[in-house]
Amino acid sequence: MKLKGVVALVTGSNRGIGMAFVKGLMARGAKKIYVAARDASSLSALVNANPRVIQPLTLDITDQTQVANAAREAGDVTLLINNAGANSNTALIAIDGLDNARTEMETNYFGTLSMCRAFAPVLKNNGGGTVVNVLSILSLVNLPASGSYSVSKAAAYSMNQGVRAELSSQKIKVIGVMPGAVDTDMAKGFEGPKEKPLDVADAALNAVEDDLEDVYPGEMAQAVSLGLAEDAKAVEKEFSAYIPA
Ligand SMILES: NC(=O)c1ccc[n+]([C@@H]2O[C@H](COP(=O)([O-])OP(=O)(O)OC[C@H]3O[C@@H](n4cnc5c(N)ncnc54)[C@H](OP(=O)(O)O)[C@@H]3O)[C@@H](O)[C@H]2O)c1
Repeated sequence: MKLKGVVALVTGSNRGIGMAFVKGLMARGAKKIYVAARDASSLSALVNANPRVIQPLTLDITDQTQVANAAREAGDVTLLINNAGANSNTALIAIDGLDNARTEMETNYFGTLSMCRAFAPVLKNNGGGTVVNVLSILSLVNLPASGSYSVSKAAAYSMNQGVRAELSSQKIKVIGVMPGAVDTDMAKGFEGPKEKPLDVADAALNAVEDDLEDVYPGEMAQAVSLGLAEDAKAVEKEFSAYIPA
């Protein structure tokens, strides 16, 4: 898919990787970008900078009514970027209650699935298109310090494969993006090297243009992906050292 002239929607576009996607799409000549966020007032700067191209949408991806409204309002979309995500950075056992785990599943799995379901007919009606699901390298190996987040991203990774298969006959491509640590609010507690959000968005947008299905942006994601292919148990053992404080 060529991005010049594309009509795209980016969830969670008010900050972090989502905002980087919007900048990347602008640089590649998108015709229209629906920028979606839970609080539309957080989108003012983006919209005011390019009001002819950028259209704001209020969208909590866990709210079925808002998801349905978004699919109605943005009926000309051919590129859906499911970027919104939640990470409570909490453990699976050493935490009270299941609230954090439920929020992560509701957002990262059910919310992303709801967006795929709502927009599949939109893309089909528009003659096909592309869905980009922002997953994580933690979709493939559990980091105990973010144990419940890793589970939700593993569910989303499997969903990405299933949705890809179901939509392949409708000229809809489905791309999974598996970054390592990225320099956004979500990873502010992580001390190690982090990718720039713009580099992650660029890698994903290159995959859209180059017709690739799986993207591992940055050195950490590449190294973990290679390690998993060579010796998945060794990678699991390495990650198991990162237990919650
Ligand atoms: N940063 C990393 O190290 C890293 C690594 C791998 C993958 N990722 C993934 O990259 C994506 C973007 O994360 P980020 O790093 O840019 O994090 P971020 O700066 O924390 O941004 C998260 C975005 O998701 C939005 N969001 C959260 N829950 C939502 C909901 N229910 N409905 C709609 N929007 C919601 C947030 O909106 P509000 O402003 O309203 O909270 C915000 O715009 C996520 O899917 C994340 O899992 C991040």
